[in-house]
Amino acid sequence: MAERRVFTLSQVSQHKSNKDCWVVINGRVLDVTKFLEEHPGGEEVILEVGGNDATKEFDAIGHSKAAQNVVLKYQVGVLQGAIVKDVDLKDVVDKESNTKEMSAYVIKEDGRSKSLAFYDFVVPFLAAGLYIGYRCLTRADSIAY
Ligand code: HEM
Repeated sequence: MAERRVFTLSQVSQHKSNKDCWVVINGRVLDVTKFLEEHPGGEEVILEVGGNDATKEFDAIGHSKAAQNVVLKYQVGVLQGAIVKDVDLKDVVDKESNTKEMSAYVIKEDGRSKSLAFYDFVVPFLAAGLYIGYRCLTRADSIAY
C-alpha cells in the first residue's frame, strides 16, 4: 500500500534542500532526496520546486508512465485535502521487472550442417577401409606369387 500519511503544504515546504527534498505531485507527497542525483532531467529542476506542489511542472514535461511509477516509489504521504487514487506499490515494482528487455539469440541447426558432419565422419573411415582392403588384397597377391 502506498503511504497514507497526511501532510499540509506548510509541512512539505520545510523540506526543500538537496539534503532533504520533498515535492507534491498529483496530491502525493514525495521524498525525492535520494532521487535528486538519479533524475534524468537533473537535480536543479526538482530543487527549484522543492517544498512545493510540482504537479504543473511535472506534467508540462510530459513525463512518461515510467516516471509516474517512480513517483509512487518515493511517496511518503498525501497532501491534506487531495483525492489520491491508491496504487499498490507491489504492482508497480512487478510491472517494472516485467518490462525489462532481454536479448537472446537462437542458433538454429540446419539440415545441411548435420549432413556435413555425417560426411566428415564417414568419408575418412570409408577411405581408410578401402585403403586397408586394397593393401590386404595386394599383399595376398604378392604371397601367392
Ligand atoms: C519529483 C518527481 C519526478 C520524477 C519521479 C521524475 C522522473 C523523471 C524521469 C523518469 C525522467 C526520464 C524521462 C521520462 O521517463 O519521462 C525525467 C525526465 C525529465 N524530468 Fe523529471 N521527474 C520528476 C520531477 C520533475 C520536475 C518537477 C521537473 C521540472 C520542473 C522535471 C523535469 C524533467 C526534465 C526536463 C526531463 C527530461 C530530461 C531529458 O529528456 O533530457 N522532472 N524525469
